[in-house]
Amino acid sequence: MLGKIISFEGIEGTGKSTQIQRLKIFLESKNIEVLMIREPGNTYIGEQIRHLLQHDPNVHNMCPETELLLFEASRAQLVRELILPALNEKKWIICDRFFDSSAAYQGAARQLPKEIVEQFNRFAVGNCVPNLTILLDIDVEIALQRLQQRKEKKDRIESESIEFFRRVREKYLQLAREESSRFFTIDATLSEKVIAEKICTYVQERFAL
Ligand SMILES: Nc1ncnc2c1ncn2[C@@H]1O[C@H](COP(=O)(O)OP(=O)(O)OP(=O)(O)O)[C@@H](O)[C@H]1O
Ligand SMILES: [Mg+2]
Repeated sequence: MLGKIISFEGIEGTGKSTQIQRLKIFLESKNIEVLMIREPGNTYIGEQIRHLLQHDPNVHNMCPETELLLFEASRAQLVRELILPALNEKKWIICDRFFDSSAAYQGAARQLPKEIVEQFNRFAVGNCVPNLTILLDIDVEIALQRLQQRKEKKDRIESESIEFFRRVREKYLQLAREESSRFFTIDATLSEKVIAEKICTYVQERFAL
């Protein structure tokens, strides 16, 4: 049996990184080897792309088309260099964002054509589709308040307007409705502990652990 892919999606500040840590501990308690991935990045090429996309202070004028292609380039490398070999070694991959993020951010929020984003997503990942996608859903204002408390410097995408994040959230909810067998949506205003319990219970049942 091959490993599994579980991706986490949601706007900034919904608690993805928090919950990923907890799910990792849970899976390891079941003797499953876990590989954690965050997009963009992980490979050498991906980390160079991450810097360009998020932190390089000299990047002021990236057009949406370039942004999409850079995310897809990072993703294509990640799939072939890390995810496929890890699946073959029966590891489970937990992705902090995967191709649904491009549908939501570059597609809905930056308003690139949906069909183009879908095609590039497919081209980048091939057959590597998550077995399960956990969507942490929250009101945009609440998520942005949480991020302000975090007090790190905002990256290029985190500095976008509230309308931008509303489009992202709506797209995620639409994807979850359209692909209801792949998505598990959770109210991210619940406490960290309650969310973790819901996720672990669901994963345990779904994969018969
Ligand atoms: N269920 C929760 N209730 C209240 N606050 C939470 C909850 N989960 C996480 N937080 C807090 O919200 C902030 C954002 O959480 P986290 O970094 O896990 O989000 P994220 O989705 O990974 O964000 P990003 O997309 O920016 O990486 C942190 O300060 C975290 O402690
Ligand atoms: Mg995070």
